[in-house]
Amino acid sequence: MTCVLSGKPVFKTQIQNSFVPASRLVDSDLNPNALNAKYAVRGRIPIRAEELRAQLAQDPSSVPFDKIINANIGNPQQLDQKPLTFYRQVLSLLEYPELMDNKAVVDTFPKDLVERAKKMLESIGSVGAYSHSQGVPYLRESVANFISKRDGYKSSPDDIFLTAGASSAVSYLLNLLSLGPQTGFLIPIPQYPLYTASLALNNSTALPYFLNESDDWSIDASSIAKIVQDAKAQGVEARCLVLINPGNPTGAILKPETIADLLAVAAEHGLVVIADEVYQENVFKGEFVSVKKVLSQLKELDRSGKFDKVQLASLHSTSKGVSGECGQRGGYMELVGFEESVRAQLLKLASISLCPPVAGQALVELMINPPTEGQESYELYKKETQAISDALRERSSKLYEAFNTMEGVSCQQPEGAMYLFPSLTLSEKVYAEAAKLGMEPDEYYCAQLLENTGICTVPGSGFGQVEGTWHIRTTFLAPGTAWIEDWKTFHEKFVKQHK
Ligand SMILES: Cc1ncc(COP(=O)(O)O)c(C=O)c1O
Repeated sequence: MTCVLSGKPVFKTQIQNSFVPASRLVDSDLNPNALNAKYAVRGRIPIRAEELRAQLAQDPSSVPFDKIINANIGNPQQLDQKPLTFYRQVLSLLEYPELMDNKAVVDTFPKDLVERAKKMLESIGSVGAYSHSQGVPYLRESVANFISKRDGYKSSPDDIFLTAGASSAVSYLLNLLSLGPQTGFLIPIPQYPLYTASLALNNSTALPYFLNESDDWSIDASSIAKIVQDAKAQGVEARCLVLINPGNPTGAILKPETIADLLAVAAEHGLVVIADEVYQENVFKGEFVSVKKVLSQLKELDRSGKFDKVQLASLHSTSKGVSGECGQRGGYMELVGFEESVRAQLLKLASISLCPPVAGQALVELMINPPTEGQESYELYKKETQAISDALRERSSKLYEAFNTMEGVSCQQPEGAMYLFPSLTLSEKVYAEAAKLGMEPDEYYCAQLLENTGICTVPGSGFGQVEGTWHIRTTFLAPGTAWIEDWKTFHEKFVKQHK
């Protein structure tokens, strides 16, 4: 037929006038694994927060607060955290190298920083070009040096994969290791829901191991061994042990002796260890010791070779720490102990996505290799990073103290990361009101908190929790402390209304 628009023929086609249009896709036409995947951090409560934000902009008098406080996600620059000047100055030169031909511009930047940008550009080329899928070799070498220095054990650039945040590393690993429902992944409960969501996408089985809340969210290695055996009896082969250290959402830090016990279980049962260490710089109490370091120590201590076959993938990211560069998608994965052919398959997966964002790769280098004392950019860098660390520490303890004054709320002292995960004792009335709305009791609490104060959090049910217990996960990134006072006032009212 000839198609005519406004009286003019546009084109001639073979379309028949008589065909009946097919319907649109509905959920039942979609990949059930995708439908099963849940991600509470951007779930029902945060979606409602966005509706309220729009409502607030349209009609400020329609809600009892003047802004939405996003305490639902560890996204520092969405709140008041400013990007570090050093990072952005180097990045600006990498993005637009011609700036370095302009003396006036060069004179406004610290000399060491301009030199750094020049050196990086020599190895990177243009940040607008695809890089090697494993990452720019020079930057991988820098990551390997950082790890060697951090742990006191050698790391090789061949074992480093630069990644688009830690999330893409998790996705490569789970895509490669999942063989379907008979493959089990040991994940902590509560956990960061990237893991359950990625397992759902891969139709693999989560084998939850519970963190012990009353003992600073510790892990009992013998319980892991038992889960492995029980799963085997049910026909599920445990394949992988996920450790999140420092923990999200718990904020707990694993002790080296616990890591050693867990590595012994991994060695005995052939579990690939994924060490999600994206919060390694966010430490308030105690010390972060990497899984790679403990594994290296065990290999040194036990010369029988028991630990030589342990396969470890350690992850880090530019999204957390004091960088907070979540949107730049920088990160790395270090592989230890994998067969060459398995590593080649991971490289193939990375190459399907071509390469991680090159500016994000550059940021990894800046994060792990900051200015040193004596360099012109050092003082400002130190001042800015110190201010961020101090603010996080202060807010974490203010919030922790506030929770422990609230009726029916108890909270473990934060050791690291960006979150608190207090437990809530909720009344029968809360259970009944929640049930009427088709919500879990902790989701109902979060919904009420949001509607009354604008504070957006995530219910513990989105992270997993011991049955019959209720929690709420909040970040302590929001500026100021007025919102903490608002929360206290809300809580008092909520408790009274639900007695
Ligand atoms: C424990 C943990 N792992 C991984 C990620 C993913 O971070 P990204 O992909 O931004 O590096 C997050 C983000 O909040 C996290 O909390």
